[in-house]
Amino acid sequence: MASAALICDTEQWKGLQAHIGAIQKTHLRDLMGDADRCNAMTAEYEGIFLDYSRQRATGETMGKLFKLAEAANLKEKIEKMFRGDKINSTENRSVLHVALRAPRDTVINSDRVNVVPEVWGVKDKIKQFSETFRSGSWVGATGKALTNVVSVGIGGSFLGPLFVHTALQTDPEAAKYAEGRQLRFLANVDPVDVARSIKDLDPETTLVVVVSKTFTTAETMLNARTLKEWIISSLGPHAVAKHMIAVSTNLKLVEEFGIDPNNAFAFWDWVGGRYSVCSAVGVLPLSLQYGFPIVQKFLEGASSIDDHFRSSPFEKNIPVLLGLLSVWNVSFLGYPARAILPYSQALEKFAPHIQQLSMESNGKGVFIDGVQLPFETGEIDFGEPGTNGQHSFYQLIHQGRVIPCDFIGVIKSQQPVYLKGETVSNHDELMSNFFAQPDALAYGKTPEQLHSEKVPESLIAHKTFQGNRPSLSLLLPSLSAYEIGQLLAIYEHRIAVQGFIWGINSFDQWGVELGKSLASQVRKTLHASRVEGKPVLGFNSSTSSLLTRYLTAEPS
Ligand code: F6P
Repeated sequence: MASAALICDTEQWKGLQAHIGAIQKTHLRDLMGDADRCNAMTAEYEGIFLDYSRQRATGETMGKLFKLAEAANLKEKIEKMFRGDKINSTENRSVLHVALRAPRDTVINSDRVNVVPEVWGVKDKIKQFSETFRSGSWVGATGKALTNVVSVGIGGSFLGPLFVHTALQTDPEAAKYAEGRQLRFLANVDPVDVARSIKDLDPETTLVVVVSKTFTTAETMLNARTLKEWIISSLGPHAVAKHMIAVSTNLKLVEEFGIDPNNAFAFWDWVGGRYSVCSAVGVLPLSLQYGFPIVQKFLEGASSIDDHFRSSPFEKNIPVLLGLLSVWNVSFLGYPARAILPYSQALEKFAPHIQQLSMESNGKGVFIDGVQLPFETGEIDFGEPGTNGQHSFYQLIHQGRVIPCDFIGVIKSQQPVYLKGETVSNHDELMSNFFAQPDALAYGKTPEQLHSEKVPESLIAHKTFQGNRPSLSLLLPSLSAYEIGQLLAIYEHRIAVQGFIWGINSFDQWGVELGKSLASQVRKTLHASRVEGKPVLGFNSSTSSLLTRYLTAEPS
């Protein structure tokens, strides 16, 4: 077996490199003509259907990718993750977000301690707290029940919960439990975001949940202090006990902040921030809004994919197939980006969540053992729901750069289909685009076709589509809490697969540190200048003059 650091030196990697030429001679227009190939390039699990026939790949490519997976010890790495080995070696931590959704009787050890009872202990506490809160028995400082929740957190303590909340909001089953309630998020330290998050809210009926794994993140702590002040100035200092709760791994700092330890919900260092939506980070605010049983369905959906990922053969394993194809696109075909295109407005916050999950996990410069990578990892993830994206950036995807696309569709809409009398219903109209776009990308349009359509000669070049642009289609049966959990877990595992193959650590994020420490230097300078009138020193001429311009304008 090859060492992870040498994956690019293996004969399997080189075999794929040698295979690029053969694929470059193909066109998806021709590959799509082979019905057997198309049928083979599918996988299904619990009604979730993946069609990857529009990837620039053949059966031979897939065979070579499965061999690469073997060379990278993928099976063993997945096992190591599930059994709690400390695969996040730079932080000496297990990676156990799968334990957050495991059934109660599962045994998963980290440091020889079964973590599942602890996980369920916190879930039981959330269930109880959310029932008290939702029943109106939990009253605020003035005796009123609380109906509004502002969740304060950033990055992984924000994007995952926001995605799930946005997706549940229009699911009728979940929505009926949210009537008369509001869940909002405050992430950015920008005072504009503060204003937006509390606009028209009354502190008397608002609960603030401070969500931070470390409880030291500058933006979150300043926002938490700002909302604490908002509560105190209206209701007095004693109100904090009833109007502020917290989610963190650092319960000591939660207490020091002034939040009652009984109202703090723990999670653990073996949950990475961007993998934390299934911990109290997401489960608490979502349970306050929708009730714990709905959130439990979401967790069960994620858990079903954990089982599929751990036990299905790679040939039929959706996260593994997706991960391998991404490695193929990035490392061999050289496509640096990936577009995530859900044909569902409910999934409007899915791409921003996956952007953090993927780019913070796999945007690395070294192998897990610290050796410089001789190839690039990760991709630039972005996306928007269809059809909105079609009227925005699809031009570039069709005729500009080649960007592999994930098309995500839902068979049964969350919402009733209006205007049934039209030629097609609203949902069919939406889905017509979901089915058409991948073929437009794959087939393109030739000058010959344009000539036969009598397109004026001067426009032939402009109207030509080269095609041969890869995509994959993921079709979900519906979009209830369960499928939302499944979709989340599919992408979490896909991203881990990519990192396992590349041989990097997908679970640390040292790259965010430098900017944070420079910001703290600037923060001190701003303070010293504003409060003590000190000059701006210690920066290059560009930063000094920008800072001086900022400081000498209207003081904030
Ligand atoms: O900016 C990086 C990061 O550490 C993310 O990984 C994390 O999700 C986010 O900041 C927030 O961190 P915390 O939950 O500790 O406030």
